[in-house]
Amino acid sequence: MLDLSRQYASIRNEVLAAVERVCDSQSYILGAEVTSLEREFAALCTTADAVACNSGTDALWLGLNAAGTKSGDAVVTTPFSFFATASSIVRAGARPVFADIDPETLNLDPARVEAGLKASSARRSGIMPVHLYGQVADMTALGRIAAEFKLPIIEDAAQAVGASWDGKAAGSLGAAAAFSFYPTKNLSAFGDSGALTTSDPDLAVRARLLRNHGAKQRYYHDEIGACSRMDAIQAAVLRVKMPHLRRWNDARRERAQIYDRLLTSAGLTRTGANSSAPVTLLKTRPEAHHIYHQYVIRARNRDKLREFLRERGVGSEIYYPVPLHLQKCFAYLGYSEGDLPEAERAGAEVLALPMFAELEQDEQRAVVDAIAEFYS
Ligand SMILES: Cc1ncc(COP(=O)(O)O)c(C=O)c1O
Repeated sequence: MLDLSRQYASIRNEVLAAVERVCDSQSYILGAEVTSLEREFAALCTTADAVACNSGTDALWLGLNAAGTKSGDAVVTTPFSFFATASSIVRAGARPVFADIDPETLNLDPARVEAGLKASSARRSGIMPVHLYGQVADMTALGRIAAEFKLPIIEDAAQAVGASWDGKAAGSLGAAAAFSFYPTKNLSAFGDSGALTTSDPDLAVRARLLRNHGAKQRYYHDEIGACSRMDAIQAAVLRVKMPHLRRWNDARRERAQIYDRLLTSAGLTRTGANSSAPVTLLKTRPEAHHIYHQYVIRARNRDKLREFLRERGVGSEIYYPVPLHLQKCFAYLGYSEGDLPEAERAGAEVLALPMFAELEQDEQRAVVDAIAEFYS
């Protein structure tokens, strides 16, 4: 699925020099290295500020809290995402309200969000779209809806560093945005870390407070925050990688096009003339600059195909097999099977294929040949 050693080999000397710089400084948490990372990451996202923290999960929590989410509020989000999207809402004291997804992109469907907001009179405090697999959600429609209902948007941009919508960078499209630098992400650290971006100075101040035990001054606590600071070594590694990101993202986009071409020319993809083919490609909206954190197809007989690929040494992954509204821990929210059919159908059909900037063309060909063999 992902061979991180190829990327590491290409930047090894730079990374080791950066880690040595941190060791020589003997400053390991926050400090100058993290401040520099915050400045550079904010510039990448075209925001006024970035608040570095210890995971994408915590960045979501910081964003919700700093944007004013209160206990008992409802936050509208997608049921088709990584667990942290919804768990951060619960950790902020609120209640996730799920709106179904667009079957073509698998991102939050704005029409469903609007209908849900119109149908309910619950106290709401935000909308949390996820830029799934590296494609920004429809922020034109979601921005209009958020303005109409006077709700802040907290972007879950964990999978979308360097992506954009209508020329505007992911991370700059709402009140705040959460990013993850987990080692498998397209901009990845050497451990857990994340960041919140915002152009609202008050929100940034509050997020900085909350990431460090709610203390303005050491040992004086106005509120209960979290222990969610970024390590200087992670910041140093990220600062080495950031200048390479555009090239790596372009390489992912190129590889996605190659998969599209190979799958289509093998006659595997569903088109107007070939409506019974076993594979459906996801759509990219014209406004979206997709960075393909993942390359995902919808596949007939998905689980058997995955097993077949595994036997041939081809990695694949399911993001995500169980939609959030059907997770055991969210049973108290009262959803049942059939409530969000597009998310449930996606959970049964999606399959992510190997995707990283250094993936070779003959490796991609081998993946598609194996898929073709399974369906032949
Ligand atoms: C959509 C989404 N949201 C949130 C997260 C949480 O990020 P982290 O693993 O850094 O806590 C992830 C990554 O795993 C993610 O993919």
